[in-house]
Amino acid sequence: MKFGICNDHAGVEYKTKLISYLLSKGHEVVNFGTDTEDSVDYPDYAHQLASAVESGKVDLGIALCGTGNGMAMTLNKHKGIRAGLAWNTEIGRLVKAHNNANVLVMPARFISYRMATSIVKAWLTTDFEGGRHQRRIDKIPCK
Ligand code: RB5
Repeated sequence: MKFGICNDHAGVEYKTKLISYLLSKGHEVVNFGTDTEDSVDYPDYAHQLASAVESGKVDLGIALCGTGNGMAMTLNKHKGIRAGLAWNTEIGRLVKAHNNANVLVMPARFISYRMATSIVKAWLTTDFEGGRHQRRIDKIPCK
C-alpha cells in the first residue's frame, strides 16, 4: 500500500515515527508534511495530500495536526476526500467500517503515540461495511 502523510508543526514527531512504522510493515510512504517544529499553516500541507489521494498518486492518506480539525476541515473541501478524525481505537475502526475514510486524521496533541499506532492499525485492518453506510456516504456531497 502507498500512503501519503502530512502534518503541521504539531504533528512532526508522530509523523516521523509513523513513517518508520509504515515502512517497517512494507508500505510505501510519501511525506507531504513539514519536518521541523517551526510554525506553519496546515492547509499548505493538507491540500498537497488531498490532491495526491484524489489523483491516485497514493492509495490512502494520514494527516496530523494539533487537534486534527484544521486538517480535516481542509481535506474535506476536496471532492474525492473523506477525511475522518479519530482519537481512540474504536473510532479508528468505525471511521473505516461506517465512513470508509480515505484519509485518517489524528489530533497529535491529544493522543499518545501508542494510541496513534493503535488507531492506524484499526483503520487499516477494518473493512468498510457498505450497505446503509454507502447510502449515507452517497448523500454527503452538496447538490
Ligand atoms: C497549531 O497550533 C494548531 O492550531 C493546529 O495544529 C491545529 O490544531 C489546527 O486545527
